[in-house]
Amino acid sequence: MNVYDAIISRRSTRRFDSKAVPEEILNKLVEAGRYAPSGGNSQSTHFFVITDRGVLNELTVLVQQAFAEMEVTEGMYASLVSSITRSKQGGYVFHYNCPALIVTANQKDYGNNIADCACALENMMILGNEMDLGTCWINQLKWLNEDPRLLALFRKYGLEENERIYGALAVGYAADGKPERTPLVRKGNSVTRI
Ligand SMILES: Cc1cc2nc3c(=O)[nH]c(=O)nc-3n(C[C@H](O)[C@H](O)[C@H](O)COP(=O)(O)O)c2cc1C
Repeated sequence: MNVYDAIISRRSTRRFDSKAVPEEILNKLVEAGRYAPSGGNSQSTHFFVITDRGVLNELTVLVQQAFAEMEVTEGMYASLVSSITRSKQGGYVFHYNCPALIVTANQKDYGNNIADCACALENMMILGNEMDLGTCWINQLKWLNEDPRLLALFRKYGLEENERIYGALAVGYAADGKPERTPLVRKGNSVTRI
């Protein structure tokens, strides 16, 4: 698959096979993230590659608890409303039971923190598509990135005092075999030629 095809046919996967992603494939994916550009070549994105089922379960419980404590407010972002509503109902698994979750953190006082994480995540999504992996951007940890429980969990694994989580990627093999590759029709993303 060439790069253009990998970009155009990339879709989000939300149903994963329980099969583990081999370590060398996961390493290659993370390397694609590490080779993303960064503002001022800061290279300050911190990648956490979580494959430990116990830690993923711990995160599931923590995230559901944190969202269940929140209230939906007028004009709230629809996806956040969904996370809160589903957490209050119970059984909410924000990472879709993916076998690997790659979490990207960066320095909280660095102006390009989200942009750098986004470049890394997009690199991994495109390469993931080429490698027949399913991927999906996961934003819940970013919304909770000041939650003391989440900070405490990640600090145990090396999150620095001045770092916060700005994105994550669910990674695994699609439950239906190959990932979905039919692009969604573009109705937005307008282009103005000058
Ligand atoms: C910044 C950003 C945040 C997203 N957050 C989530 C998320 O938390 N959970 C989820 O299932 N998908 C999330 N997505 C995936 C989008 O829902 C998805 O890209 C969009 O619906 C288009 O579908 P496609 O990726 O299959 O083309 C996110 C995507 C982006 C770029």
